[in-house]
Amino acid sequence: MRKEIDFFDVYRETLDKLDGDGILLVAGDPPNPMTIGWATLGYIWHKQIMTVLVRPTRHTFRLMESIKDFSVCILPVENHKELTLCGTRSGRDTDKVKACNFHVEKCLKAQSHFISESSYHYECRIVHKHLLNPNTLDPVVIKRYYPLRDFHMVYYGEILGIYKNLEAVGNRQ
Ligand SMILES: Cc1cc2nc3c(=O)[nH]c(=O)nc-3n(C[C@H](O)[C@H](O)[C@H](O)COP(=O)(O)O)c2cc1C
Repeated sequence: MRKEIDFFDVYRETLDKLDGDGILLVAGDPPNPMTIGWATLGYIWHKQIMTVLVRPTRHTFRLMESIKDFSVCILPVENHKELTLCGTRSGRDTDKVKACNFHVEKCLKAQSHFISESSYHYECRIVHKHLLNPNTLDPVVIKRYYPLRDFHMVYYGEILGIYKNLEAVGNRQ
């Protein structure tokens, strides 16, 4: 069972995971989970926004281009192996939900799915996107992160809801 929670209840944990094993961006139908390590959380247009960065070479990019909603799932620490799999294999040739023995459920507010095994999940609606612009990007960043010039698409997701898995995390805040 899922309980809706506040932006700040899981803010710190989300950033810690981004800096660690990563979190899952889930897009498409059937849903494809991809590990991400780069994202931001904040306020724009008086909305709570999560931005996620997806390289055009990812299968997830093709999915994100054909949908309006996505979810972002935070997995328990035991799921290190699954996060590695979802960050190294592609949905183009692997059913990653099956390979990880995950289950999926329909989102409560978005037209997407989330991973049932997640401790928390965000439901988002894409309100803006743009490709990183190499003309205005720091050349040091380009040299280090974009030798192939595969600049990320940045998707701005309005956060429609954030949910806690009561079975996995319990009632503690
Ligand atoms: C810890 C970690 C963080 C990652 N962060 C991102 C990211 O923020 N954006 C991105 O485009 N790829 C990122 N990747 C790479 C993708 O997860 C990887 O290429 C994946 O296989 C793509 O899956 P797909 O083809 O099913 O979309 C990350 C990988 C790992 C292991």
